[in-house]
Formats: sequence, structure tokens, C-alpha cells
Amino acid sequence: MLRVENAQLYYGAAIALRGVSLEAREGQVTCVLGRNGVGKTSLLRAITGMHAISSGRIEWEGEDITKLPAYERARRGIATVPQGRDIFPLLTVRENLATGFGILERRDRKVPDEIFDLFPVLAQMLDRRGGDLSGGQQQQLAIARALVIRPRLLVLDEPTEGIQPSIIKDIGTIIAMLRDRGDMAIVLVEQYFDFAFDLADTVTVLDRGKVVLSGVAQDMVAEEVRSYIAI
Ligand SMILES: Nc1ncnc2c1ncn2[C@@H]1O[C@H](COP(=O)(O)OP(=O)(O)O)[C@@H](O)[C@H]1O
Ligand SMILES: [Mg+2]
Repeated sequence: MLRVENAQLYYGAAIALRGVSLEAREGQVTCVLGRNGVGKTSLLRAITGMHAISSGRIEWEGEDITKLPAYERARRGIATVPQGRDIFPLLTVRENLATGFGILERRDRKVPDEIFDLFPVLAQMLDRRGGDLSGGQQQQLAIARALVIRPRLLVLDEPTEGIQPSIIKDIGTIIAMLRDRGDMAIVLVEQYFDFAFDLADTVTVLDRGKVVLSGVAQDMVAEEVRSYIAI
């Protein structure tokens, strides 16, 4: 289980998280919703170790990881699918997948076959350049790249952003499959309400760096949640 307690995060003098708490459990999708600029990506950076928090605590599988650098968190099974996908356009699909190996021992540096079961399109495009893929294919590649370390915590930052509806549906199916295996905690940041609410076990809504609503998705009033993310 992931436990973020009272996290504060600053960029210089500007505060982005004002004491945010969040829990994410294996076998569940924990959704973080909120408009642009409320701190969603900052929260994911705090979890993955891309940006230090100035106070608060982050615990993963019973261990305090607050001070651990990003690669040490990756070693503990934390993987990320960044906002905007960050695919290397000049590298092939195969090479892009290999950039996910980072923390793995050389002998473990192999893309698990099941990744190509999840994303058959990638198996056919291994030698194509990342930049030649459609936005939806790049998003699938970004998820696949995160999965090569067989993570136990997967964080995804707006995976539906700028993606066509048919692929959004595929991505939803894959997130649900990963959830249903039961051994992975998933933190899903979204602005696309219907997509997120369908998948969510629990929902946390951020506004201006603060949690304004949080609970079990089934018990929440959709319209209330929606009111925080409608533009
Ligand atoms: N690298 C950065 N340097 C300075 N300010 C930043 C940086 N990244 C984000 N911010 C600011 O922090 C706040 C939260 O941003 P972010 O976490 O990216 O929000 P969201 O992902 O919800 O859109 C915003 O006001 C944003 O402008
Ligand atoms: Mg963001």
C-alpha cells in the first residue's frame, strides 16, 4: 500500500501541494482528479521521487520512502507513465521499451511477453520509430515501457489526454485488467471524468494544491465530483 501523508511541495517559493494525503491499495485504481494546475502532476512527482517534498511523509509497502531518490523507488516497484508520454521520437519502439529497463539487472532486461499480449500493435511495430506512431500508439508504448520493470505501483498522468476515443477505450480495458490481477496499485491522474470514474475504486479531488473531496467512488455523488473538474 502507498500512503502519502500531508505532503507539501514547492517550486522555489511557489507552493504546489498544501498538505496532500492519499492512499492507494493493491488491486485498486485510485483516481486523482482536478483541473489544470491544481497539483496532480506534482503529486505524482512526489510519489515517484522526481521532486522532493518539503514536509510530510510517503510510505510504500510499509517502508518510509520519503527521502529515497527516484531510482530507489523504481527498484521498489514504482513505475510512471508521464504526462505527454515522453516517447523518444528518433528511437525505435524496441529502443523506447529498453529505456524502461533502467533499474533492472542485465539478465532481466527483456520485455515480458505479456506486454505484447496487452499491446499487440507494439509487437508489429518494434522497428518503427517512436515519432512515427500515432498518439494512441505512443500512449500504449509509454504504458508498456512502464510495465517492463513489472511494477507493483503504477502511476499514470492523464493517459487519455489528446487520444482518440477507440484507443481511450483500449487503455481503460488494460488498466482494468492490470487492476484485476490484484497485485498492482494504480494511481490514475485524469481530467476526463467519465473515463476515470468508470475505473475508479477511490477518488481524490484536488483543487489549488489541496484535497477537496475524497472517498470510495461508489459512495460519491458524480455531479459533485464533476463540479470540481468542469471548466
Ligand atoms: N517545474 C515547475 N516549476 C515551477 N512551477 C511549476 C512547475 N511545475 C508545475 N508548476 C506549478 O505548480 C502548480 C501545479 O502544477 P501541476 O502539478 O503540473 O498541476 P496539474 O498537473 O494538476 O495540471 C501550477 O501552478 C504550476 O504552474
Ligand atoms: Mg499535470
